[in-house]
Amino acid sequence: MTHLLGFVLACFWLLTTLALASPDRNVSSSVGVSKYSSSFLGGAVININQPQSPGKASVPAIRTVSAEWNVPWMKAPPDADLSNPNNRHKMAQWVGILGNACDDKNWSPFLQAGTATDIDENGITTAYAWVEWFPAGSHNIPSDAFTINPGDQIRVIVNVYTRTMGHVYMMNLRTGQEYEKDVIADSPQDPKFLICLGSGTAQFFQEWVIANDRAELPVFNNVTFANVEAVDRRGGRFDFNTETRDYWNMVDADRLVAVPEGINSNSFVVYSPEGSSWTPSEGDKL
Ligand SMILES: *[C@@H]1O[C@H](CO)[C@@H](O)[C@H](O)[C@H]1NC(C)=O
Ligand SMILES: *[C@@H]1O[C@H](CO)[C@@H](O)[C@H](O)[C@H]1NC(C)=O
Repeated sequence: MTHLLGFVLACFWLLTTLALASPDRNVSSSVGVSKYSSSFLGGAVININQPQSPGKASVPAIRTVSAEWNVPWMKAPPDADLSNPNNRHKMAQWVGILGNACDDKNWSPFLQAGTATDIDENGITTAYAWVEWFPAGSHNIPSDAFTINPGDQIRVIVNVYTRTMGHVYMMNLRTGQEYEKDVIADSPQDPKFLICLGSGTAQFFQEWVIANDRAELPVFNNVTFANVEAVDRRGGRFDFNTETRDYWNMVDADRLVAVPEGINSNSFVVYSPEGSSWTPSEGDKL
């Protein structure tokens, strides 16, 4: 998986500075797949070769990435002062598509879409959906166009048609509400927005906005990504049965805070080590 070492997690969703991950590679012998660490991402990827010879390809290797997941609740430590915004948290769940043969190895534009949750000053978790064509910022989907709440089951399909054009589909499987939109890179003339050719990476992540190590962190209930699939430019279908998957652990202040664990060929769970036995009660769902 050496090409993943060059896989740059350039300032994803919401981070305002260009934070290059340069992840340390840690191979876990127990699960039989590569494990990487990140300070803000926990999840899984599927790597797919460019189906055409690299010199001839004109569109990114991956056409479609899709998954379903439950929108989680978060819970702050009982003594956390939530009137201090630094003690509140934002967390996102998303799927994305990027290409790896970028001229600048430190720059990987990509299309991503998913959900986000916030803890407010009363400890209540709220949720919304969003779309982002990196390096532009994320665009929130207004709640009247697509309403989600913690506990909802969401299906998201992201398509990349050309290096600057794609499509996002979302469905709230609890309410039946759908949302879809053609997406164009925010600055399609700017080479920094062109999704790269070469091998592609399908991304399935939980992302946590924790800019600095925190003494106290909230927990979240298990997020299960199901019906995970990536489709290449020729219609070839890929899941975790392929040899090209990798899992990413999220580490903060030397603690594991979001850990992926494979379930079967097309699903995995991301859990919070301190919250993995938490099943939110009605009181948490206010
Ligand atoms: C990788 O594993 C080593 C040995 O267990 C550990 O010291 C190191 O902190 C780990 N690196 C990351 C980024 O998790
Ligand atoms: C969450 O996932 C972890 C890891 O698979 C598992 O041990 C734990 O039982 C799960 N928690 C719940 C409430 O299902």
